[in-house]
Amino acid sequence: MATVLASVNRKGGVGKTTTAVNLAHGLAIKLEEQGGGNVILVELDPQGDVSRALGIDPGDRCLSKVLTGHATLRESIISADRSDSGGPARPNLYVLPASDRLKRAKSNLLARNVLSSANLSLDEDSPAVPVDDLLEYYLDPLRQAFQFIILDCPPSLDMLETAVYKYADQAIVPVKVDFHGAAATVNHTNGIIEEQARGIDIKIGAIVPTFVRPREKLARQMLTSLVRRYGRKTVSLAVPGTVIVEQSPALGGLTLFESAPDSAPTKAYQALVDKVFAEAVAYEQV
Ligand SMILES: Nc1ncnc2c1ncn2[C@@H]1O[C@H](COP(=O)(O)OP(=O)(O)OP(=O)(O)O)[C@@H](O)[C@H]1O
Ligand SMILES: [Mg+2]
Repeated sequence: MATVLASVNRKGGVGKTTTAVNLAHGLAIKLEEQGGGNVILVELDPQGDVSRALGIDPGDRCLSKVLTGHATLRESIISADRSDSGGPARPNLYVLPASDRLKRAKSNLLARNVLSSANLSLDEDSPAVPVDDLLEYYLDPLRQAFQFIILDCPPSLDMLETAVYKYADQAIVPVKVDFHGAAATVNHTNGIIEEQARGIDIKIGAIVPTFVRPREKLARQMLTSLVRRYGRKTVSLAVPGTVIVEQSPALGGLTLFESAPDSAPTKAYQALVDKVFAEAVAYEQV
């Protein structure tokens, strides 16, 4: 049974991609150790940061082609294993990349939505699927092949926001632990709670404090207030703000598990991996 996790926060630069990539790779390593299983990162951000972080070239693959019915999942997924070219081995980690094409596709999707509500499709080969159901419709087959599906979201999902909440089982919310970051996150999670009230089945799986400088009093206060608001079980171990994470994108596409396995940020992400994994196993046993 697959678990779909969305790394979301409406604020930019809070560690969504860093969290999505390291959570995905950590889960892939864990599955390998436990006897197998696959993980896929789905990029919903046209910036293409996931492929860059993993050092892979997506070519002209793009999620938008899948969502418009112009490419199959099989054609659009790429392996993150780079052992053939002397890079790191990631035998069970995959990516469904996005590119600038997704930005353009979004405006066409709006037109589609208008048509699909009238049960008309934009072209003959693609069915009329309401925008809010797009991810469930086109990405549902991923649940057969992958144990974990991780969505890396941009700060602004625009009209795809409800589609993400409908498809994902859990929101993983990285919070930059400064005053503005924490306040913006509370607003966002309130938005998620409103979605739940509309019958959308998504839960807040984890709040991940990022950029944490534990010696700063304000950071400690913010952490305490996050724990008070969301509970100790939901707030995962704080990821310190360090040059290790900051420079990680410049290291030629290595995850923290590859570039700095014994560092404090890696240990924090490992704790998140263990929590998500344990919950998925517990859920399966029910
Ligand atoms: N704990 C951390 N300590 C230091 N730097 C970090 C940390 N987490 C992320 N960064 C750096 O901050 C920048 C933004 O991180 P990231 O890309 O993960 O954020 P994001 O929320 O995905 O941004 P966007 O909203 O643009 O998609 C990156 O350069 C990343 O390396
Ligand atoms: Mg990002």
